Amino acid sequence: MSPRVVTLAHYYTAPEIQRMADKVGDSLELSLYARDAQADIIVFAGVRFMAETAKILNPQAQVILPDAGSTCSLVTQTDIAALRAWRESYPDHVHVSYINSSAEHKALSDWIVTSRNVDDIIAHLYAEGKKVIFSPDRNMGAYLNFQYGYDMPLWSAVCEVHDKFNEDALNEAFAGVSGQAFLIAHPESPLPVLQRADYVGSTSGMLNWVKSYQGELSATIFVATEDGILYNMHEARPDLNLVQAPIYAGCQCNSCPYMKLNTVAAVQAAQAGQGERIDYLTPEQMDAARLPIERMLAFSQ
Ligand code: 13P
Ligand code: SF4
Repeated sequence: MSPRVVTLAHYYTAPEIQRMADKVGDSLELSLYARDAQADIIVFAGVRFMAETAKILNPQAQVILPDAGSTCSLVTQTDIAALRAWRESYPDHVHVSYINSSAEHKALSDWIVTSRNVDDIIAHLYAEGKKVIFSPDRNMGAYLNFQYGYDMPLWSAVCEVHDKFNEDALNEAFAGVSGQAFLIAHPESPLPVLQRADYVGSTSGMLNWVKSYQGELSATIFVATEDGILYNMHEARPDLNLVQAPIYAGCQCNSCPYMKLNTVAAVQAAQAGQGERIDYLTPEQMDAARLPIERMLAFSQ
């Protein structure tokens, strides 16, 4: 019998990759789909931390990352020994970590969050009177502290893609629009960008905002996130003027180099069983990382 292969793709992959997938989604949706997949092989057209999460949640499946180079700057900017020391310097705090983190990082965390549930989970912890430290995304943490008046100590890594969005390029872009203009943004963007956004949320959240947009059709909607999801937005609402937010004048060019390593050839090879197998995590490492992920999943369901 041939193996059952399930292919997952994140919104940041190219349109031709998304069309090869059984499921396209944000980090939370893809984690849940991977956990429940009846599959011998899960091909994860995304980045390594996503494939690791899929393996942790569905250890029976062979999880394959099409290209071994698909990392994430939030992972590569985080030294685990330094993170452990930082975590130990706040012994009475709850450590909340963004899902964009390695399995080792997750194992040093009390809760995992995605951009979809981070607001609710941290609000829940504060409501219980907990003190919280947040890692690894400094921009996301700064936004949460600003938006809700928290005082969370923050780890200092950034998404190298979203961190390029900036106020000056946005001001210039807004000034060039004669009619109405909106900005929707992913919370990995810098605080000054998020402070002027009409909506801040996950990739799915932004897509839903676009789908349900009821305003002037002539308005310009700037989208501060990776360019892959513009495909889904244009598909959903071809009647809207959706434009990726610039990182400098005239540039709509902000792309994640790691997501874009998922080429058609690499995904096809992975579907045939080749590519980077996520088989290097020990059962103990997976158990330790699963605990804070499952805490999040129980909260979100
Ligand atoms: P979400 O799709 O969960 O919003 O996350 C985006 C992301 O950073 C993927 O790298
Ligand atoms: Fe990581 Fe940023 Fe790429 Fe997402 S877009 S995988 S956060 S580098």
